[in-house]
Amino acid sequence: MNEPVRERVTAAVGADPAWVGIGPLAAIPVRGARVVQGPGGDIAVFRTSDDRVFALLDRCPHKGGPLSQGIVFDCRVACPLHNWVIDLEAGAACAPDEGRVPRFPVRVEDGIVYLDLRGRPEP
Ligand code: FES
Repeated sequence: MNEPVRERVTAAVGADPAWVGIGPLAAIPVRGARVVQGPGGDIAVFRTSDDRVFALLDRCPHKGGPLSQGIVFDCRVACPLHNWVIDLEAGAACAPDEGRVPRFPVRVEDGIVYLDLRGRPEP
């Protein structure tokens, strides 16, 4: 299992107050994750090998495993409990498994990662 960096969301709001800064991209391990505590539970913020960033609820659609502790490859993460593979972009389990993980809008500006935690996560 990968041990993710775990922190609370703190300050660092950018120009648009809807987006919450969670710190520098460099603080997220390449092919790893950082966990931030969102209003509806932990959010896993993943960084791929080509520096793309995705944010999903840190709960596997199978039996709730911590996706943040999974192995990141390509644009996917393998759950550490039973090895389901979740597509980070779609937030969906890859066939033959089925299920979805709520996604959160995320963007990177000037090396800082921002999450939009307003309202409900994207289905
Ligand atoms: S809890 Fe993730 S694969 Fe079972």
